[in-house]
Amino acid sequence: MSEFSKPYQEMIAILDFGSQYNQLIARRVRENRVYSELLPFDISREKLLSLNPRGIILSGGPASVLDKDAPLPHRGILKLGIPVLGICYGMQVLAYLSGGKIERGKGGEYGARKLFIDNEEDLFQGLGKSLTVWMSHKDEVSSLPGGFEVLAHTETCSIAAMRDKKRKLYALQFHPEVTHTPQGREIISNFLFRICRCSPEWTMTSFIEHAVQKIRHQVGKKRVICALSGGVDSSTTAMLINKAIGKNLECIFVDNGLLRLGEVEKIRKIFKEHLKLNIHFVGARERFLKRLRGVLNPEKKRKIIGEEFINVFAEEAEKLGKIEFLAQGTLYPDAIESVSTKGGPSATIKSHHNVGGLPEKMHFKLIEPLRDLFKDEVRIVGKELGLPREIIERQPFPGPGLAVRIVGEVTPKRLEILQQADGIVSEEIRKYKGYKDIWQSFAVLLPLKSVGIMGDERTYEYTIALRVVKSSDGMTADWVRLPYGLLERISQRIINEVNGVNRVVYDISSKPPSTIEWE
Ligand code: XMP
Repeated sequence: MSEFSKPYQEMIAILDFGSQYNQLIARRVRENRVYSELLPFDISREKLLSLNPRGIILSGGPASVLDKDAPLPHRGILKLGIPVLGICYGMQVLAYLSGGKIERGKGGEYGARKLFIDNEEDLFQGLGKSLTVWMSHKDEVSSLPGGFEVLAHTETCSIAAMRDKKRKLYALQFHPEVTHTPQGREIISNFLFRICRCSPEWTMTSFIEHAVQKIRHQVGKKRVICALSGGVDSSTTAMLINKAIGKNLECIFVDNGLLRLGEVEKIRKIFKEHLKLNIHFVGARERFLKRLRGVLNPEKKRKIIGEEFINVFAEEAEKLGKIEFLAQGTLYPDAIESVSTKGGPSATIKSHHNVGGLPEKMHFKLIEPLRDLFKDEVRIVGKELGLPREIIERQPFPGPGLAVRIVGEVTPKRLEILQQADGIVSEEIRKYKGYKDIWQSFAVLLPLKSVGIMGDERTYEYTIALRVVKSSDGMTADWVRLPYGLLERISQRIINEVNGVNRVVYDISSKPPSTIEWE
């Protein structure tokens, strides 16, 4: 353990059995201002104890304890005297290890169910007699292990929640972490504060203080380089490091010519003039466009842009003399990856390289100060460090920029058309009252030309597709039902104001099966 204080005194260890909801458990705990971490389910007793957890949560997962090779935690963790909460598969694990009986239920339970509370103490305190919960299980506990009592049931599941109060072992067959269990947050809060006796002290202010201390300790008087994109992750990383070491941070902003209308100027203004960061703006538009000439394949385009970025970044870094550290805006979901193989989960930490592929000889040491944070936490940190709303609330923008929003070859002319059209989309959408619920809204240029008529003239010009989606994480997305009036205004403005476009279409496909970007 390091000599400086942690940003939290107490933590909750979540043993990861591979459920798709695991990160949600961690988030729900942290929303209660208690730090939590996902850990491999087979973590050793010693390692777990060294983290000094106030409580342990056994997550859900795709396996069955009835299987021969079912993933199980170290038996000893139930005897540590630390409160345990088993969720779904975690409940079955708890029952199995305590001598209960688990059976394959008749058809299982999936979806919303009414839960009847049999005991309103601790875990269900203040929640009334019944509540709606989200079930997703085949197996169920059919007879209680010794020392346990039933806390709640559903019409088809007689043991939907149980506890052994003396040993502080608790379990839920349903998922309190998903929003489909509307009172799940209170249940988790009861576990944290009534059972584990945690105190809510995980705040972003304490995180910042700790991160600054840690960066100073790690870096000393040495220098750090950081690629700034203007997105919330890289911007927050830069602000945090700047707070710790000031001018010893060198930021590089690569203008690849594939950014949106006015974006470079905006970023320059915010970071250089307003926030006083030490930034080197590198104009590399010609280099990128030259390499993209004649390239139609989307994967090739991405590869070229990635490579060229590295080339530019490496050249600039070299000019700056000796720099020891490279800062990256890696977040917790990037750093932890749940892998479920043949029903048996494992949590592996992957090394995530936002600036992957830097030449070996550069030998940077990595610093990733946001590695423990979720995106919503990063936004709070960014805000506390003085980043303007424009950056904090910026929609995700792909690394290869507008190149993946021009279907086919990227040419200067097409780029100009797309930037103009996208500028209009952005201007109009921002006025829409539902703007804050939109995940991404942008224009795409299709290489398809079609016939139109303007005045008395026949035209033969490009098509712009409008893409506006809602999403919570970019993994799935639904197209937004924009009002016709807004669609009409955007279409009219693009056709009237942008030379080279005579048709606008609206993309009404969801993800899956379509993707958000067109390439
Ligand atoms: P798709 O198109 O796969 O996009 O549905 C999902 C989310 O990821 C963003 N995206 C990228 N972000 N580099 C990035 O940093 C990329 O190469 C990239 N490609 C897609 C996309 O904008 C959406 O939010």
